[in-house]
Amino acid sequence: MKSIFLDTINNKKTSRPPVWFMRQAGRILPSYQKLKKQYSFSQMMKDPELAAQVTLLPINDLGVDAAILFSDILIIPEALGMGLEFTDKGPMFDNPLTQYKNPAEQLIKNTKKLDHVYENIDMVIEKRGEDVPLIGFCGGPLTTFCFMFRGNVRDITFHDAIKFLYSNPKESMKILEALTDLSVEYVRNQANHGIECFQLFETYSGLIPEEMYLKKILPLSKKILNEARSSGLPTIFFPKGLGNGISYIDKETCDYLSVDWQMNLSHARNIISDELGIQGNIDPRILYSSFEEIEKYLSTLIPFGTENNNWIINLGHGFLPDIDHNKAKFVVDWIKQTNWKR
Ligand code: CP3
Repeated sequence: MKSIFLDTINNKKTSRPPVWFMRQAGRILPSYQKLKKQYSFSQMMKDPELAAQVTLLPINDLGVDAAILFSDILIIPEALGMGLEFTDKGPMFDNPLTQYKNPAEQLIKNTKKLDHVYENIDMVIEKRGEDVPLIGFCGGPLTTFCFMFRGNVRDITFHDAIKFLYSNPKESMKILEALTDLSVEYVRNQANHGIECFQLFETYSGLIPEEMYLKKILPLSKKILNEARSSGLPTIFFPKGLGNGISYIDKETCDYLSVDWQMNLSHARNIISDELGIQGNIDPRILYSSFEEIEKYLSTLIPFGTENNNWIINLGHGFLPDIDHNKAKFVVDWIKQTNWKR
């Protein structure tokens, strides 16, 4: 496949950095909002035709260099028997794990619940243009664990989950391991169905101390990422909020590190292992500012792009729902038109 995204991630020299955006499928696109009037998120995610269509919308509407599968990280707990609903207030579990004494016993695997994702991959591959790589993904064990303790409340501190992690470490490990085992199987199947790259979203790694993340959770994340790698896929790891802890991540774990918007990009490059590529890290809120301000900011990235071939441009966290998609399109066009002096 002729793809600037795959060339970059496979260490080939390219004339510019490739670009795609976290949460590009859905959210900000008017074409998606239009579909949302007719179908719910779950309906679209579970229908291969619609899911493939939404997966490919940002290729058309924004001109990004890769597609990411339209799905969600929370379908893993759903496949472990947790009733999942996507409401206007966000995802909600009917039976959050807080209510049980031994929550690990509640988790009963039903892998059939993941089958629609594989059908969606087949459909994307059938419908896409020949130069559109497909990124598969899954949630990091800690992030997914956190949501499993949350019912119908929007608690971004995930108090119940973190309290459980400290007060019931053994039972927590059982849950984390169940998540990891199913994720490993899920990644293997995504790879068998033809994704070209795999990203692990560990959005809430910053909820616990660095040492604790590295000791208890990273080995599990690594297991999932290594499964993708053993299927021949390049891997991207997004441990949001890990801070300077990213300096401990090495090539054994992943190929690219996705850096959050809190960290300075050059600082990140300095502390990350030379063997790893870097993805990121545009502050999504910059897309609230004017085109002039955005362009000024983008221009500051040129020296970094000249020096670093192993860089994928992305956000430092997903799109916020209310940004103007024209600003995102502007970013992509600007990246493509700029002389990166390589
Ligand atoms: O990147 C993409 O566009 C691909 C699809 C994707 C979705 N969710 C679709 C979605 C991906 C990669 C995710 C990851 C995800 N989901 C994460 C990790 C990344 C991150 O942004 O932090 C997390 C924590 C979730 C859990 C989740 N799903 C939340 C908190 C919400 C509600 C808030 C919101 O709108 O994102 C969802 C719902 C969800 N997942 C939507 C989409 C398009 C919105 C559904 C709708 O249109 O109503």
